[in-house]
Amino acid sequence: MLNVSMTLVCATPPVDGFGEVVAALARFQRDGLPVQLHPGDLGWYTRCGADAAAAATRTWSRDGQILAVGLLDGPGVLRLAVSPDAFDDDDVATGILRDIAGSTSFRAEVVEARGGPRLRRALIEGGWVPDEAWTPLRRDLAGPVEKSDLRLEVTNVDRADVRVALQRASFDRSTFTREGWRAMAEGPAYARARCLVGYDGEVAVAAVTVWSAGAGRPGLLEPMGVHREHRGRGYGAAICRGAAAALREMGASSATVCTPSDNVGAVATYASAGFVPLAPVRDFRRAV
Ligand SMILES: CC(C)(COP(=O)(O)OP(=O)(O)OC[C@H]1O[C@@H](n2cnc3c(N)ncnc32)[C@H](O)[C@@H]1OP(=O)(O)O)[C@@H](O)C(=O)NCCC(=O)NCCS
Repeated sequence: MLNVSMTLVCATPPVDGFGEVVAALARFQRDGLPVQLHPGDLGWYTRCGADAAAAATRTWSRDGQILAVGLLDGPGVLRLAVSPDAFDDDDVATGILRDIAGSTSFRAEVVEARGGPRLRRALIEGGWVPDEAWTPLRRDLAGPVEKSDLRLEVTNVDRADVRVALQRASFDRSTFTREGWRAMAEGPAYARARCLVGYDGEVAVAAVTVWSAGAGRPGLLEPMGVHREHRGRGYGAAICRGAAAALREMGASSATVCTPSDNVGAVATYASAGFVPLAPVRDFRRAV
């Protein structure tokens, strides 16, 4: 008789199995559900290298089916997504909680768990306390997107330097490099992504990377920024409109993004580009 195991298994994917994790995570993305960890988040992390991205990833599977994915996105920070089919699954929620409480290989101090109401309940019952608030925003892509005021260039390997320079000019602590861009672009998630650089005349002023999760699913903007010397002129809203249009062209049903609620400039910029803010959602922090 076939012995079917129903045990939830936590694993780190092999580098050559990372594409399967990206594909599973893409299937978790559905409109109308909480904006949770997206293939684009794994894709953006791949700038650190394919080995590092696989090593920072965890999967929870039952009978070979991936039901949850985690990304160790910085020291002690675990970002989670749960399959909508397992949102109410007690074993998945308690299994994840047991692993993050007891694991020596990835002790999480902060957990992002926007999807999976059962998991959020398990965290609260387990004594985890609310932490930083994040604001998800969403723009429906059923209708056309108004034209961006910027000239948009899709980054290719020969123009990666421009994309990298804008990242560094937009984010104070950015360590993005040309090698990082190449590693990201060679990763499985980037097969459904593109970087856009926005130009005013000949001057590169803003950049964004957009990630599709496949046709009919929500896409993600991650990251988006405007050169610090060119802010306050509408370029942020313009590059976000360009990002939404690109995602629509790629078949996405909506464009989503999530930003710390205290990044009021970012929230205002997305809203100005037609993104609708959803209710803020807090991370969880280990109480002791
Ligand atoms: C957030 C950021 C993209 C804004 O770019 P920008 O080109 O200055 O934004 P825009 O000129 O297009 O402004 C769009 C709207 O946001 C508002 N806004 C922009 N920055 C703001 C701020 N710091 N505080 C309040 N409102 C702000 C503008 O007033 C404008 O509102 P309006 O459409 O009602 O007139 C830019 O500051 C940036 O790159 N920051 C660092 C990177 C970052 O935080 N990225 C987002 C992470 S998810």
